[in-house]
Amino acid sequence: MRATTLGLTFVPFALHAAAEDCSCGYSVNSTNATYFGLFTQKIENDFVHSASDVTWDSTPGPDWQAQEYNVPPPEARGLYGKAAQPRNVNFNVLPPGSTGGNGTLGGDPGLQLWTRSELVSESDGQYIPMAEIVTAQKDILYGSFRVGMKTTAINGTCGAWFFYHNNSQEIDMEVLSKDRSTKMGWPVNLVNQSPQSVASGYNARNTSGFLDWYLTIDPKVLYTEFRMDWLPDRIDWYANGQLLATFRDNIPTAAGALHLIHWSNGDPFWSGGPPEEDAVLTVAYVNAYFNTTSQAPQSAACGPGQLTEENTCNIISATSPPQQPNVAHPGSAPEPLRPSNSAATVSRARVWFTCGGIFGGTIVLTLLGCSFF
Ligand SMILES: *[C@@H]1O[C@H](CO)[C@@H](O)[C@H](O)[C@H]1NC(C)=O
Ligand SMILES: *[C@@H]1O[C@H](CO)[C@@H](O)[C@H](O)[C@H]1NC(C)=O
Ligand SMILES: *[C@@H]1O[C@H](CO)[C@@H](O)[C@H](O)[C@H]1NC(C)=O
Ligand SMILES: *[C@@H]1O[C@H](CO)[C@@H](O)[C@H](O)[C@H]1NC(C)=O
Ligand SMILES: *[C@@H]1O[C@H](CO)[C@@H](O)[C@H](O)[C@H]1NC(C)=O
Ligand SMILES: *[C@@H]1O[C@H](CO)[C@@H](O)[C@H](O)[C@H]1NC(C)=O
Ligand SMILES: *[C@@H]1O[C@H](CO)[C@@H](O)[C@H](O)[C@H]1NC(C)=O
Repeated sequence: MRATTLGLTFVPFALHAAAEDCSCGYSVNSTNATYFGLFTQKIENDFVHSASDVTWDSTPGPDWQAQEYNVPPPEARGLYGKAAQPRNVNFNVLPPGSTGGNGTLGGDPGLQLWTRSELVSESDGQYIPMAEIVTAQKDILYGSFRVGMKTTAINGTCGAWFFYHNNSQEIDMEVLSKDRSTKMGWPVNLVNQSPQSVASGYNARNTSGFLDWYLTIDPKVLYTEFRMDWLPDRIDWYANGQLLATFRDNIPTAAGALHLIHWSNGDPFWSGGPPEEDAVLTVAYVNAYFNTTSQAPQSAACGPGQLTEENTCNIISATSPPQQPNVAHPGSAPEPLRPSNSAATVSRARVWFTCGGIFGGTIVLTLLGCSFF
């Protein structure tokens, strides 16, 4: 229960923090914590309110590129080929001023990735129309990659958030819509492709790079944050801010791109399908913090022993499912649905300490200040 909201009192802190600099990068955990990951680049997309971060060609600027390709049935390793088509990537933003509900196209708001039920016939077989977007940045090396998305309830597709260098250096969180929930929860596959998985026919199932995890909430019902932190010595997997597992074998060493894909190839042992009706996966946001092989060298001011809370921005991490954009939030201004490390949010983190010092107890921050419970 919210007891008090202390709004204007803290505006001076917000103004102070607006001058915050991230000149040494974005940090997972504070730079004085036992473990932290520092990254100098970021991509932050809010697909619920904006339709500007995807392009359908190689125009520089937008973060993501919608893909167009055909993978014939044998190479697609299923009963059908895969036809990635830009028409299956649609912006379904909220109408202006809306605080939540359906997007302008109807249905859940966000970037839609469709897998179609109607097959395309080519001379070499039938193809399932599907959707994929890939970052324009192709030289990502280590990072913390987060997506808020709602997967489809239509049987027969695979929705995946992944890093890809090649078939033996690939980090993947995959939700199969054919999987039934169990007593343990709703399955998500955590996959680190390796030379071993390539050797067993691109199947990681019997390697140390594979884990069936069960989520405590249904990602077909609630937008869920899937997160993978790829570090030189490990991969940390998260859902809604909860650490699920850590992998330490065959950690990828080479740079690549981030992908979001919603596909089916009819393989009864993986995607299943084709879906009986058009199936949509909806992406609310991406927050990715990473290094690249082409990034400028850092100045001496960010060298060993120089990192501080003052010259890095702490990445605020989710601790629960994101705000659900398909539900109206009357009374609150339409807001990005994600924790972010913008100056304003960093200032809120600062304010937290200040309020904590002053009032003690459990404190939750609002846009204008802090309120306590
Ligand atoms: C990290 O630094 C902040 C202030 O900059 C301090 O409040 C916090 O206690 C420190 N944490 C650790 C683990 O030293
Ligand atoms: C952040 O801290 C948590 C808790 O200590 C740890 O599990 C995690 O690996 C750390 N993340 C990074 C990127 O160091
Ligand atoms: C990312 O790059 C910065 C700047 O070079 C470096 O300090 C940091 O250690 C790198 N992060 C990782 C996880 O390698
Ligand atoms: C929201 O969209 C869904 C799917 O298109 C539709 O069935 C439903 O009627 C819409 N709801 C409203 C309030 O418009
Ligand atoms: C993937 O890339 C790594 C590093 O570039 C290379 O050693 C490995 O052989 C490649 N694997 C495949 C399956 O091509
Ligand atoms: C999806 O269809 C497959 C094949 O008919 C079936 O085995 C599976 O149980 C179905 N999954 C769900 C969630 O209904
Ligand atoms: C995994 O190992 C089990 C038991 O050895 C075997 O039955 C199964 O076929 C293997 N699966 C794959 C995909 O290699």
